[in-house]
Amino acid sequence: MGPLAGLPGVTHVPFDQSDTASIAAAARSLVGPIDHVIHNAAVRGDTGGLATFSAADLAQVMQINVAGPLLLTRELLPRLSPNATIAFISSRAGSFAEGHDPDGDYAYCLSKSAVNRAVAKLADDLPHRVVAIHPGWISTDMGGPEAPDSPDHAAGRIIDLLSGPDRLASGSFCDACGRPIRP
Ligand SMILES: NC(=O)c1ccc[n+]([C@@H]2O[C@H](COP(=O)([O-])OP(=O)(O)OC[C@H]3O[C@@H](n4cnc5c(N)ncnc54)[C@H](OP(=O)(O)O)[C@@H]3O)[C@@H](O)[C@H]2O)c1
Repeated sequence: MGPLAGLPGVTHVPFDQSDTASIAAAARSLVGPIDHVIHNAAVRGDTGGLATFSAADLAQVMQINVAGPLLLTRELLPRLSPNATIAFISSRAGSFAEGHDPDGDYAYCLSKSAVNRAVAKLADDLPHRVVAIHPGWISTDMGGPEAPDSPDHAAGRIIDLLSGPDRLASGSFCDACGRPIRP
């Protein structure tokens, strides 16, 4: 259970983003209208480079990072307010042009490229605002303790970005300050 769960007015609805039934049950338990959806959960998968890359790991990472948020989006559609924002926390690692880290996380990079493409597709298909956001390098389990930015600070920037007056266009892929990232 995350730190938000203890706050007043916050309802904690656990679900498994790799499990279609769990996703549908979680969505059904929510009461609309929902103004903001932020798809944050993801896994890194194997980080050993081409030497340890496997189809099974890729399948699991794609299931959790790509299929899960797409299915949850579909389940939430009847509960969204007409001008709702759907934000996918993506990564610069998914950018063909800018994702040049030396890390050996093939499955993760592929999954974030797919997330970015899904955001562009959803922006074409849905009336809602759909955006992809790179949060920065954050000191979480995934980012590691040497990361320069805290989760609280990163979350605050993303909330400001999504609720601020300078509305991001649907289909945008940007960092947490709203600066565009090339796909
Ligand atoms: N940290 C960074 O530097 C960085 C950089 C670029 C992008 N991002 C992106 O930022 C987002 C958050 O990453 P993070 O750094 O917070 O990663 P993290 O520390 O590894 O946390 C991942 C979160 O995803 C949840 N999760 C994993 N598998 C799940 C599943 N099957 N069902 C439901 N929830 C699941 C985990 O829940 P449990 O704790 O219950 O397992 C955890 O809350 C991700 O989309 C990541 O790709 C992070």
